[in-house]
Amino acid sequence: MAIERTLSIIKPDATRRNLTGQINARLEEAGLSFVAQKRVRLTPEQAEAFYDVHKERAFFEDLCNFMITGPVVVQVLEGEDAIAKNREIMGATNPANADAGTIRKDFAESIEANSVHGSDAPDTAAREIAFFFSELELVG
Ligand code: CMP
Repeated sequence: MAIERTLSIIKPDATRRNLTGQINARLEEAGLSFVAQKRVRLTPEQAEAFYDVHKERAFFEDLCNFMITGPVVVQVLEGEDAIAKNREIMGATNPANADAGTIRKDFAESIEANSVHGSDAPDTAAREIAFFFSELELVG
């Protein structure tokens, strides 16, 4: 077990329904701390660059279009095993497969409008955090 940092995004379907506070409360209650957070509107170029790893997937264009339909909240979470812990709290990508009590089970509308994103591994977390935040903005 180690103290890790991970990138989390509250997606447009969740900001539109005013779920930011409820999602943040779940993250804090699970022992994760916020070391950075900001509300932004992604440009099409930013959405495409962020999801570059998925550019060959059939859902890439729809996903990028969805991510610019409204504001998102990008945040850096810190805690013991933060990457795995955040993914546990989020639940499976497809809300139909998500465990009871997870964010996606309780809030997601579909596999695309699935309320939250979380980094899936340490190297991805480092890349995704640097995509949105400078070192100066990470306040532990
Ligand atoms: P996220 O964790 O943000 O990473 C990529 C996103 O693509 C994923 O959540 C889903 O919202 C979205 N997506 C849409 N369709 C699919 C699919 N068939 N398989 C995986 N991810 C999908």
